[in-house]
Amino acid sequence: MSSVSVILPTYNEAENLPELVERLDKALGGGYEVVVVDDNSPDGTAEVARRLAERFPVRVVVREGRRGLSSAVVEGARAASGEVVVVMDADLQHPPELVPRLVEAARRGCLAVASRYVQGGRVAGWPLARRVTSRGAVLLARLLLREARGVKDPVSGFFAYRRDCVAGVKPTGLYKILLDVLVQCKPVCVEEIPFVFGQRTRGRSKLGRRHIVDFVRQVLVLSRWRPLKFAAVGATGVGVAWAVLYLLGWLPTVFSTAAAIEVSLTTNYLLNRMWTFADRGTPLLGGWIRYHAATAVGNLTNYLVTNVLSLLGVLVYAAYLAGVVSGYVANYIFSELEVFK
Ligand code: GDD
Ligand code: MN
Repeated sequence: MSSVSVILPTYNEAENLPELVERLDKALGGGYEVVVVDDNSPDGTAEVARRLAERFPVRVVVREGRRGLSSAVVEGARAASGEVVVVMDADLQHPPELVPRLVEAARRGCLAVASRYVQGGRVAGWPLARRVTSRGAVLLARLLLREARGVKDPVSGFFAYRRDCVAGVKPTGLYKILLDVLVQCKPVCVEEIPFVFGQRTRGRSKLGRRHIVDFVRQVLVLSRWRPLKFAAVGATGVGVAWAVLYLLGWLPTVFSTAAAIEVSLTTNYLLNRMWTFADRGTPLLGGWIRYHAATAVGNLTNYLVTNVLSLLGVLVYAAYLAGVVSGYVANYIFSELEVFK
């Protein structure tokens, strides 16, 4: 039994696999196995892997049809025998020489992440568009997923962790298996080790536009659709506010708007506490006070927009709706970061 299993998901990596396995062998010496999980690549990757298996401890799992990097990783971990699994791309963008350091950290019980975004790490030769997309992905993951918040590169494809845990993960997306590991395994410590994400010299990336949509979906699934629940609660709040505006129609708008905001703020808070953020166990009164602070920017925006529009002759209900919409994004960000943290 080998104590380390290196999982290599592959789709058309026939040209890269030989050099990668040789460099892994040199870096690890012995006591390891490589598990190649190939989705029946048309370029004959599986054949190349089988030939490598004559000289190196390589096992090959071939699946019918293309089923995504994430599920390939989980299947590889299930087939592996090591106590620790290393997950990495097979295209040499992840330097195999870093693997021993990842394994060492994983042996200490931490999730070891090879990171592009800690001191000393970076990406080589990416065009601006890809850099911006990547940073956006990191930002979104860290904003919406508490488990990713302490990690600088939660979407890295290069990491090491206990096999039993990775093997039990249910992939929620096609590509970002590390997010699943972070959320579903809840590692007690995460150690980020800087590395330079190299350029691909052979073959081509499989990342496409559909993976962006898939990624956003994955983050929403892992966040248990919180941003949408939050928006739904906000919609009920508009109904509450309209009712208050109706009942207080005899008051000047500057007063009725303030009352409408306060009452709906409170019903929103209660609904978010028992539904959107039910898992957080936020103290009732303390949370209500912090919710005031957190939604202050949004509510102030709402208050001003509603009053200005109604001064301009817009029906107060419509004005209020416009006010709410303009405050929603600010509200969500403050709630996620300050109230329900
Ligand atoms: N089995 C299998 N099935 N393997 C796949 C599939 C699939 O459907 N799609 C991609 N792979 C393999 C590739 O052959 C390669 O070994 C690895 O997964 C990464 O694929 P690339 O297409 O090279 O991805 P990338 O370089 O654009 O993205 C990488 O970097 C991202 C960070 O920016 C990946 O590591 C991502 O997971 C990572 O988030
Ligand atoms: Mn790649």
